[in-house]
Amino acid sequence: MLHIFMIGCLVSSAYALDGADVVLSCSFVEEGGGMMGGMGGGGLFTRTPATLVLRDLPVDNDASLDPVTPFNPPENPSSDDLIFEVKGSSVEIPDADVILHADCNEQEVICEISHYIPRGSNPHGQPTHFIGSLQVDGGGISLSMVLQVLTNAETASETTTPLVQSKLQLPLSQSGTLLTEAVFVVFSRSSSITVPVRGDAQLDCGFRQQQQDTPPEGGLGLGLEWRLQHRGSGRKILDMSTNEEEAGAGPQVSAGREGATVDPALAVEEGNVSLSLTELRVSDEGTYICTVTSGIFQTQQIVQLNIIQPPKVSLSEERMIYQDEPAQKLSCHCISYYPLDVKVEWLSISSLEAEPEEISDGVSLSSHRQHADGTFSVSAHLMFHLSKYPPGTTITCRVTHQALDSAADVSSRVLAPEMTGDNFYSIIITVLIVTVGTAVFYQVMGTN
Ligand SMILES: *[C@@H]1O[C@H](CO)[C@@H](O)[C@H](O)[C@H]1NC(C)=O
Repeated sequence: MLHIFMIGCLVSSAYALDGADVVLSCSFVEEGGGMMGGMGGGGLFTRTPATLVLRDLPVDNDASLDPVTPFNPPENPSSDDLIFEVKGSSVEIPDADVILHADCNEQEVICEISHYIPRGSNPHGQPTHFIGSLQVDGGGISLSMVLQVLTNAETASETTTPLVQSKLQLPLSQSGTLLTEAVFVVFSRSSSITVPVRGDAQLDCGFRQQQQDTPPEGGLGLGLEWRLQHRGSGRKILDMSTNEEEAGAGPQVSAGREGATVDPALAVEEGNVSLSLTELRVSDEGTYICTVTSGIFQTQQIVQLNIIQPPKVSLSEERMIYQDEPAQKLSCHCISYYPLDVKVEWLSISSLEAEPEEISDGVSLSSHRQHADGTFSVSAHLMFHLSKYPPGTTITCRVTHQALDSAADVSSRVLAPEMTGDNFYSIIITVLIVTVGTAVFYQVMGTN
C-alpha cells in the first residue's frame, strides 16, 4: 500500500515541477526555389511540415492538467523528421497556458518556423538560430521566439554518432529532435483592438530575454520602435533606446505622435513596451509594428488598431400632419460615423399592416461629408405625398453600420389634422400675428 501511495506522489509532483509539454504542428518556411529566388525579397517560399515541442511549460497546477500528455518522441527517429524541441529552462514563454489550452478551446494555433540570422553575425556561423512565430487564432496571443540550437556537446551522446537532419544538416538529439532553447521572445496579448474616436488605446507588446551574466558586447542595449503602417505609407510613432555605455542615463524616448507614450521603467524592469495613445483620431488607424532589439536579437509583433464610431441618427420631423398637398420631404441625418460604409433604408407601416414595407420611391442620398476628425456624415432624403400615407402611418429611417450592434431606427408618425394640438395652436398664433401686425400697421400709419 505504502509503495503505491509513494508512486502516486511522485507522478503528481513530476507534473507540478515540470509543467506541461505543448506539441504544435508547424510549417518550416524557407525562401528560395523558383525563378524569383534571390532577387531581393519576394520570391517563392517553400513550406515543409514540422513540429514544435515546447517542453515543460509552467502552467497553473489545476485539475485541467489531466488531459495533458507529455511529448512522446518518435520510436524510430529519422533524419527527415523536423522536430524543434524547445528546452523548458529557457526564456519564459508568456501565456503558456493559453497556448496549451488553445487546442481544447478549438482555437487554431498558427505556427511557422524559419531560419534567423542575428544582427551583424555570419549567416553560416555557430550557433544556428531559428525563429518561431505562434499565433492563437481569434485575436489571442501572438509571439515570435528566437530559438538557439544547442551545441553538439549538449546534445550528442558519448556512444553513438548522432543522426543529422537531412534538410538542416544539423545533428539531432537521441530522440530525433533538434534541441533548442528560446533566447528572445517578443509577444502581444491582443493583436487587434477596436476603439472609438477620441478614445484612448493601449497596444500590447512585451518581450522576454535570457538573463545575461555579462552585458552584451559593444554595450548594445535595449531598443524599441513603434511604427504605423497604413494604406502603403508608414511613419514612426515612437522610439526608445537605452545605451549602457552612458552610465546612469535613462532610456531615450522620442515620440512621433503627440500623446504616444511607453513607460520606460516598465520596459526595462518588466519587458513591457506597450504603447499608449490618447485622443484617437481616424488617422491613427492602421497596423502598428512593435520592434524590440536586444543585443544581437531583433524581432517584432503586429497590433492592428481599428477605429469605429457609430452614427448619431436623427430625423428632420418627429411627426407630420396629414394633408393632400404639397410633396413633403423627410431627411434622415447620420452624423459622425466611421468607417464610411453605412446603409440607410426607409420603411412604412400603417396601423392596418403587420409588417413594415420598404419604401423605394423618392429616396435619395446626399454625398458624404468628412469632418476634421476624419468621421463622416450623410443625409438620406425621402420625397413623398402624404396622401400616400394615411394618418397612423409610421415612417422609419433604419440605419445599419458596423459600429451599431443592431440597426438604429428613427420614426415619424403621420397624424390626422384634428389629432394635433399644435396645428390648432399654430392657427391661433398665425391669427394673432396677423391681428397684431395689422394693428401695429394701422397705428404706425395713424401717427404719420
Ligand atoms: C503592460 O502593462 C499594462 C498595464 O499595467 C498591462 O495592462 C499589460 O497587460 C502589460 N503588457 C505586457 C505585455 O506585459
